[in-house]
Amino acid sequence: MTDRTLCVIKPNAVADNKIGEIVKCFEDEGLRVAAFRMTCPGRAAVESFYAEHEGKDFFGRLVDFMTSGPVCALVLEGADAVDRARTIMGATDPEKATAGTIRALYGKNMTQNAVHGSDSPESASREIGFYFAGFDIF
Ligand code: RTP
Ligand code: MG
Repeated sequence: MTDRTLCVIKPNAVADNKIGEIVKCFEDEGLRVAAFRMTCPGRAAVESFYAEHEGKDFFGRLVDFMTSGPVCALVLEGADAVDRARTIMGATDPEKATAGTIRALYGKNMTQNAVHGSDSPESASREIGFYFAGFDIF
């Protein structure tokens, strides 16, 4: 089966009207959109999504931000999708991200860094289930 990963376009990039440009960054590199959904996740859902980071100093800041407005969740498909998507996104800190990556282009800081990407095939499977349980994936 072709690999899949979950991407979330974060509230700052949605508010900045960059949904299309971000999707284009993935499509231009050959990843295919297999599902797409705009939603406003609640606090409990975001806390559960980011459970691995609970207790870290940035956790509250991250949850506040991710519940501050709508996000877009995408399933991206293609060979080696997890790693390729993370390369296209760039480093977590937009200031350290390679020029031309999504976070370098559309990130503002560590919290408002435009996108989330799954970090392993196992995370991708869990995270896709999180946003797309009961929804079609094509
Ligand atoms: P992501 O999960 O969002 O794709 O990003 P990542 O793997 O590069 O980073 P991760 O360590 O999983 O962190 C998740 C999100 O938490 C925020 N963060 N803030 N020191 C900080 O202020 C800090 N460290 C991490 C970022 O928004 C990161 O995307
Ligand atoms: Mg991560």
